[in-house]
Amino acid sequence: MLDKIATIKLANLPTPLEEAPRLANKIGLSKLYFKRDDLTGLAGGGNKARKLEYDFHDILSGGFDVVITAGGIQSNHARMTAAAGRKLGIDVKLVLGGPDFQLLKGNLLLDSIFGAEIRYLVDDDANDQLTVAMEQWADELKIAGHKPYILPIGGSSGLGALGYVKAMQEIAEQIDGGKVQIMLAVGSCGTFAGTILGCKLFLPDARVIGISVSRTSEAIKMRTAEIISESAQLLNYKIDTDKMPIECYDTYFTEYGLMTKECEKAIFECADLEGILLDPVYTGKVMAGLKGLVADNVIDRSIPVLFIHTGGMPIIFSFEDELGRHARYTKIRKAL
Ligand SMILES: Cc1ncc(COP(=O)(O)O)c(C=O)c1O
Repeated sequence: MLDKIATIKLANLPTPLEEAPRLANKIGLSKLYFKRDDLTGLAGGGNKARKLEYDFHDILSGGFDVVITAGGIQSNHARMTAAAGRKLGIDVKLVLGGPDFQLLKGNLLLDSIFGAEIRYLVDDDANDQLTVAMEQWADELKIAGHKPYILPIGGSSGLGALGYVKAMQEIAEQIDGGKVQIMLAVGSCGTFAGTILGCKLFLPDARVIGISVSRTSEAIKMRTAEIISESAQLLNYKIDTDKMPIECYDTYFTEYGLMTKECEKAIFECADLEGILLDPVYTGKVMAGLKGLVADNVIDRSIPVLFIHTGGMPIIFSFEDELGRHARYTKIRKAL
């Protein structure tokens, strides 16, 4: 059934699966792999490209002429949707939440290079307000004769989550099945939901572990179960979400969008040992979580860990001050 649901090609797939032996050794794991979904393309890569392949097929086949979506000020989803819209010739409008709209940095700079029209709210916590602002904008566009498509915050829906169901099929082919512990960041829950459902279908021996960047574990479990059942319905697949294991940890963030000390350390360690860039809002927190859960014996050191690198690299360029401290004070000297 999965192959029967149409997509439009936007991502460079399959993404590589790379072993990270030096970092594995440092953390104390037998094996660590990175699934390089930071290399999917769409102006810097990331997980959302897989979801957008489903969403934009829906948009094009439905005859919509403008897409409205929403996220935080440094939303990777917003940047990738803007890039996809340009590639396919569809206008994209963004509602973003958060302060600092005076300085165009990171993803916000990229959004504006793509010419996306942006409306902002100063309180970035208010998901309801973002949705109200999207609906209001859609009404205005309808009055002006357009057919707008509202893509939910973070692109998280049953349809978009199919991108990660398919990603698990891709991983199953790359690792040849077997036991594995899959780790990833959880924000609006679509990637997590797709990963859990995809493992049920293609990697039955996998354990999926989510690291929250914004919500409590309870809230994640509820939302993830909802998305899983929406996706399963699209696939005509009967499941009881009450019986699905949804394992996530909400102790590796303080507030959405802020970098923790452990996350900062993990970013430098991963760069130093593997030449891979993590970001301060999502993947750096997952690496901090991985280290913490190994130390607490929650993760089994003898079973391979597969870290889904969901991207986020442009966010580094909105953390120049925090991340730049290290380089400035330790490695940069006047030549003569
Ligand atoms: C880099 C990165 N990783 C992970 C996530 C989390 O994905 P989801 O919102 O589907 O939970 C996001 C979401 O914005 C992201 O940008």
